[in-house]
Amino acid sequence: NPSFTVGSKSFTAVAINTASKAGEWIQSKLGDFNSLHTKYSSQDLVTEIDKGAEKMIRNLIQTHFPHHSILGEEGVEPGPAASSKALEAIKDAEYLWIVDPLDGTTNFVHGFPFFSVSIALAYKGEVIVGVVYNPMSNELFVAEKGKGAYVKGKPMNVSKEAKLIDSLIATGLPADRNGALPVNLQGLNALCPKVRNIRVAGSAALHLAYVAAGRLSGFWEIGLNAWDIAAGALLVEESGGKVTDTEGNPYTLSVRNIAASNGHIHKEFLSELDAASAVAIQV
Ligand code: IPD
Ligand code: CA
Ligand code: CA
Ligand code: CA
Repeated sequence: NPSFTVGSKSFTAVAINTASKAGEWIQSKLGDFNSLHTKYSSQDLVTEIDKGAEKMIRNLIQTHFPHHSILGEEGVEPGPAASSKALEAIKDAEYLWIVDPLDGTTNFVHGFPFFSVSIALAYKGEVIVGVVYNPMSNELFVAEKGKGAYVKGKPMNVSKEAKLIDSLIATGLPADRNGALPVNLQGLNALCPKVRNIRVAGSAALHLAYVAAGRLSGFWEIGLNAWDIAAGALLVEESGGKVTDTEGNPYTLSVRNIAASNGHIHKEFLSELDAASAVAIQV
């Protein structure tokens, strides 16, 4: 069984402290950064704040746990092939921290106050700690495997909707215009008439945290990376929800096409995506 501590140091406490510090720094830089570049496509943005936050997070984790491995978005070459390769090389590490230093870069760049820091810790490939922090709302979402999930210290529970037609669902419109975007649009098109409504707010990690908190009934997105999902997936599971890939297979770190829900709507949710052939990137 995994431990949640080394000596007197708690993994969760370090994750919380690190996400809070990085989030506060990111917030202080809102509207105050000089470099804006594109990565994999012209819609895939990165700033010096993404990089600075990742550096800060790596330093803090390494100070406390020098023997742990770290996978962070800004340490990996852009694009699905390179990110899969980076994950495969490291995913079986005993302790692996999975970091999205700034999830929702486009929102950050535009001052749309919906972005987050996402930090997960996996033990032999299984996520045991997940922390997502939204500095703009000062909301800290925390989960520990088998111990529940909390927002601002209060226990979270998923929502109660039993039917898709009563559900508020979220998705993303990924920057990968030719691969993941059209498949997401196909799903959006198919689901829209079948649900109460759809939200596309621009941070996968926060969408998952909102499913955990019962503010959304479900979330799906094609073509994500481990760092977008790992912390949020544990939040949803520990709040009583269900997390699979869009074809219904169990969640693992390698899953890119994520479907998370309150559990009650899961089957109907996936069958609508499947009927629209919107469950995976077509090749
Ligand atoms: C992105 C956000 C967005 C999602 C994209 C992600 P980033 O992450 O989570 O909501 O639609 O697919 O890449 O690049 O802002 O960390
Ligand atoms: Ca990015
Ligand atoms: Ca992200
Ligand atoms: Ca990011």
